Amino acid sequence: MSETTAVPFGTDAARLVLGIETSCDDTSVAVLEDARRLRAHLIAGQDLHRLYGGVVPELAARAHLELLPRLVAAALAEAKLAAGDLTAVAVTRAPGLVGSLVVGVAFAKAYALALGVPVVGVNHIEGHLHATALEHGAGPWPAVALVVSGGHTELVLVRGFGDYRWLGSTRDDAAGEAYDKVAKLLGLGFPGGPVLDRLAAEGDPAAFDLPRPMLLRPGLDFSFSGLKTAVALAVAPHGEPPYPPRLVADVAASFQAAVVETLVGKCLRALTETGAGTLVLGGGVSCNRELRQRLEQACAARGAVLRVPSPRLCADNAAMVALVGAWSLARGDVSDPDLDAVASLEASGLPVPRG
Ligand code: KG4
Ligand code: ZN
Repeated sequence: MSETTAVPFGTDAARLVLGIETSCDDTSVAVLEDARRLRAHLIAGQDLHRLYGGVVPELAARAHLELLPRLVAAALAEAKLAAGDLTAVAVTRAPGLVGSLVVGVAFAKAYALALGVPVVGVNHIEGHLHATALEHGAGPWPAVALVVSGGHTELVLVRGFGDYRWLGSTRDDAAGEAYDKVAKLLGLGFPGGPVLDRLAAEGDPAAFDLPRPMLLRPGLDFSFSGLKTAVALAVAPHGEPPYPPRLVADVAASFQAAVVETLVGKCLRALTETGAGTLVLGGGVSCNRELRQRLEQACAARGAVLRVPSPRLCADNAAMVALVGAWSLARGDVSDPDLDAVASLEASGLPVPRG
């Protein structure tokens, strides 16, 4: 959470919250009623980054600036509300690309000021931890949450709203970043996750013997950069892309098997070590079909509850931001007028181990 102070807005401020998400390359706006009912939820992906093979921060910030006012107007129209009906504005203030965050935070502060309603800064990772609550309700807690995206691979014990213990993180690349880099190596474009997920279904997961990073070692941290290097070495004898479709499918399947086995193994270890009975997923990589299937089987086998948001709520979205904002407002939190953007997770106020 951002630094907050109790203010006399009471729970009424949580009634109709405008959520704003601009931490990376998706511009998203939501209107959430009573922390439950999504009156509107729009996500504008920025396709222009495909041209560059990855997210270009300056272009992302500029696109947010263009898109935000239009999206807010469209969301209000969809919700059949006027701006004056809103009771608060919630905005992602950390972590992410600083230029993109600044656009969202500045917009949210100005908009809230103009409306005379409170603004509350939300931690994007906290949003992913609770996105599932929009579809399944909060809890049951304690839960182990895996947030797995292009920027993050975090395992967190969630004991309740605002009560977290960090269990593990990646020491280098995030899982989604590994997907994106391997797709690039194979000449498949950006982002890599969805296309590799699709191709993996056509390949042989045993074709290449790739490492399961850190799975045999104790602990709950991850490392994916070695896996990417192993893929690079595996395709090196075949020259440059384009590669034969069979090879691409086999690499995709072998790579995905290694990632999924590692993620599943660590999730199960975290459930065992913490005694939690619920596993929660969040982040773009949790759209992965094999990851979902394998976790469904593993959780069913041990009687654990699995909570996986639908794909729109797995990826970066403003609904989860509005939700965490509404919960924060309901307990009396609101951000100061000097709310600012914070790029790093370590400096974002969550209990993340440093260094
Ligand atoms: O959460 P997200 O939308 O944005 C952030 O990175 O914060 O996640 C995007 C990431 C990208 O790295 C993308 O390649 C990956 O999620 N991704 C997937 C799948 N869909 C998206 N990775 C594996 N399988 C998928 N089906
Ligand atoms: Zn995210």
